[in-house]
Amino acid sequence: MATGIPAIDKQHKDIFQRINEFINAIMNENEQENIETLLNFLIAHATTMFGDEEKMLKEKNYPDFAVHKAQHEYFIRTIEALKRDFESGIPMDKLTADIHQRVCNWLTIHLSKTDMQWVAFLKTSTPAS
Ligand SMILES: [Fe+2]
Repeated sequence: MATGIPAIDKQHKDIFQRINEFINAIMNENEQENIETLLNFLIAHATTMFGDEEKMLKEKNYPDFAVHKAQHEYFIRTIEALKRDFESGIPMDKLTADIHQRVCNWLTIHLSKTDMQWVAFLKTSTPAS
């Protein structure tokens, strides 16, 4: 699911690597503490990652910019909602299942399919140098 833009590919790789590390830690160690760390990391990392991407897409006049940005915002709101669930003390097995479904699956689809739409747009709109 590489975009061909090294800085963005690194952010994508990092977020999956960290999610995998946290999921392993949650299954093996202190799940409560690790889930809180994961959710805080996701909010910070996704905000930076999406912000960088949006800045670039806006500069390139990506035609679906508004729709794409709305999807990023939806994801951030999802994580914030999961954090509220965590703080309200919902069962850990429900929370980890939600993280798999609403974070891991969403990110996989977004980075491997949705982002590939702007990658294709940039390839056609940017003359090869
Ligand atoms: Fe995106």
